[in-house]
Amino acid sequence: MLGTGGTIAGRAARAGDNLGYVAGQVEVSTLLGDVPLPSGVALSTEQLCNIDSKDMSHAHWLALARQCEQLLDDPWVVGIVIAHGTDTLEETAFFLSQVLNASKPVVLTCAMRPATSAAADGPQNLRDALTVVAADGARGVLVVCAGTIHRARQVRKVHTYRLDAFSSGEGGPAGFVEEGRVRLAESWPAVETPRLPVSQLATADRWPSVQIVTSHAGADALVVDALVQSGRVDGVVVATTGNGTVHENIEAALLRAQTAGVAVLRATRCTDGAVLSSGEQRWPHAFDLSPVKARIVLLLDLMRGREPAV
Ligand code: SIN
Repeated sequence: MLGTGGTIAGRAARAGDNLGYVAGQVEVSTLLGDVPLPSGVALSTEQLCNIDSKDMSHAHWLALARQCEQLLDDPWVVGIVIAHGTDTLEETAFFLSQVLNASKPVVLTCAMRPATSAAADGPQNLRDALTVVAADGARGVLVVCAGTIHRARQVRKVHTYRLDAFSSGEGGPAGFVEEGRVRLAESWPAVETPRLPVSQLATADRWPSVQIVTSHAGADALVVDALVQSGRVDGVVVATTGNGTVHENIEAALLRAQTAGVAVLRATRCTDGAVLSSGEQRWPHAFDLSPVKARIVLLLDLMRGREPAV
């Protein structure tokens, strides 16, 4: 079990305070408390970092990916649980799903209430994550929260406060954990070939710069033009309206960006559905991926020197 921080490791001054806490304070080795391990599971813990996941960096991702790869290669390891903050959990899960050969389960989990809460949700989420790791045939990068199993591609944080803060959208969850048992909605996800294997990830200071720009009513060219003028941007993901459409002012700026050598990828702002192609389009799109996940696709594809392919 790897600790990275988050509310699950948060500490508040009072047990009744579920909001006024500092994330990433408590060591992962103490998070399970008195919650029993699923039978047959032996656990070792490691603290990779202890941060609020809003501050997750490429350097953290690289260290996490390398550590996961090493553990997955160890024949004694049946799987990995990662304790993570909820705010960027879907990004870390999707990133890992694109770089690891996860023939064993890698399960990210979290909490919406701090470890010091009188009614903390972290210990049960951790136990559920361990149940998934120990389940027959489990594999792939998964997210477990509030008794629900999500796939890395679909999962999104959809609520600011509820304990059940994640959704898999119209595809629905991969399954559930109920009283120490897994009930799958469908079979475990197929193990994908990594988009870019961990061994080929550059050192974090050399990762391409990929920025997200949102298309919206009243948009102008300012942000895209400023990014291009900075000379430091390699790619732009445009969070589009509806079915991949872009405000005409941003579109003009993106054409200038493309001429200047900046790669462009479209991803819809809509939480459900996918961008459906209609004829020849100027820029590729990320189908059903959210803008933050499309950013990871473009980042990795630029790192491997290819056009984005979703
Ligand atoms: C964080 O993402 O680290 C803080 C918020 C949370 O875990 O719910």
